[in-house]
Amino acid sequence: METKIVTIDLDTRGYDIYIGPGLLYRLSEFVPVEVEGRAIFIVTDENVKSYAKAVQNIMLEAGAPRCEMLVLPPGEKTKSFRKLEEVCGWLLDNGVHRNSIVMAVGGGVIGDLAGFAASTIMRGVSYIQIPTTLLAQVDSSVGGKTGINTAQGKNLVGAFYQPISVVADIETLKTLPRRELLAGYAEVVKYGLINDLGFFQWLEDNGNDVCNLKPEDVVYAIEKSAKAKAEIVQADEKESGRRGLLNLGHTFGHALEAAAKYDGRLLHGEAVAIGTMMAFDLSVRLGHCSREDYERVETHFSSVGLPTSVSFIEPGLKTSIEALMEIMKKDKKAAGDKMTFVVSSGIGEAFLTQDVPESVVRDVLKDALGKSTTTKDGFNKQGRKKGIKGLWKSAFSSQS
Ligand SMILES: NC(=O)c1ccc[n+]([C@@H]2O[C@H](COP(=O)([O-])OP(=O)(O)OC[C@H]3O[C@@H](n4cnc5c(N)ncnc54)[C@H](O)[C@@H]3O)[C@@H](O)[C@H]2O)c1
Ligand SMILES: [Zn+2]
Repeated sequence: METKIVTIDLDTRGYDIYIGPGLLYRLSEFVPVEVEGRAIFIVTDENVKSYAKAVQNIMLEAGAPRCEMLVLPPGEKTKSFRKLEEVCGWLLDNGVHRNSIVMAVGGGVIGDLAGFAASTIMRGVSYIQIPTTLLAQVDSSVGGKTGINTAQGKNLVGAFYQPISVVADIETLKTLPRRELLAGYAEVVKYGLINDLGFFQWLEDNGNDVCNLKPEDVVYAIEKSAKAKAEIVQADEKESGRRGLLNLGHTFGHALEAAAKYDGRLLHGEAVAIGTMMAFDLSVRLGHCSREDYERVETHFSSVGLPTSVSFIEPGLKTSIEALMEIMKKDKKAAGDKMTFVVSSGIGEAFLTQDVPESVVRDVLKDALGKSTTTKDGFNKQGRKKGIKGLWKSAFSSQS
């Protein structure tokens, strides 16, 4: 299969994203600089170290004089100051030089952490993203956001720092747990929902093939996603406006994630799927979007086995409308006192607005938390939620 290339056009900071099967074993073709004379530093996690080992061998064969590897524990907790210190210390102890290359082999956690370390070490060395989760291939490896979490919240310390190349080998997805794969798929759907009805329609027809890793469909979905993100990042690299559209479903989603305390009950992509339903609910309540579009999005998430309601989280959230409002206000996307929301006037027509009465947001939260089991149009959501949860569970248990 032909390797797909998506170019990020950012003047001197531009780079290519390579997508296809088996790319890991041809990695040296996708390194845009001469490797002779450059030490390479691979950062990875326990779950994907076999891929990192393959990268190490290939780079040594390609003429790199040295190729060191650091294996970190998997999980969100690795995106911390402590691990950043460990990565930086390891790089310095091993003689990192201005012309060295850092390679991040793993999901978004490794990509964000290693990218941030690369942005600061020696005031910036080149790095390459080798994403191994669907989420990282369609989202976190593209666009140059790097960073770590702090006690105050997620991704609050970091840098915009573009890689010199991104290599997405779809074969690595074969070992990814089904639940992680679906979480990444939620971000794929997001691109259709933002500004591409045609892509959403394609996903309605082919989403299950993507989630079952049919190669040509996975490659197409990643390519479309990377292009969509590239187009938005090129227009607004540092998120002063349009890039905020990528946060569709994320304002609500981040609040749910924080309320679930990142303890494994709710993955980021799952929170995005549920948060997207809340954003569509908000859009319906504000009169921007039809109930039919809401239902259509819900049907699609459910059809692949993604959750669409808070009742999916087990054990349930111990939170309140006020607590969620508080988290949302603290979210870094809140400009001044006003919260910015991504709302929709239909599938493929998302827009940013600060013109959202707090009372309507509270209604959305109230309904989502199940305090009210009946929506404005009299539909009993609770019953439907149970059905969707059951569907998701069977999809997960049969294929993970
Ligand atoms: N920089 C950005 O623009 C951006 C965008 C979206 C998300 N993010 C960040 O990305 C992170 C989430 O990324 P993620 O979902 O990739 O999580 P992750 O890196 O934690 O990976 C998920 C799990 O899958 C394992 N794994 C990875 N690849 C595997 C493979 N091929 N086979 C088997 N197991 C594998 C990992 O070890 C981990 O346990 C969050 O920290 C989020 O904030 C960043
Ligand atoms: Zn996301």
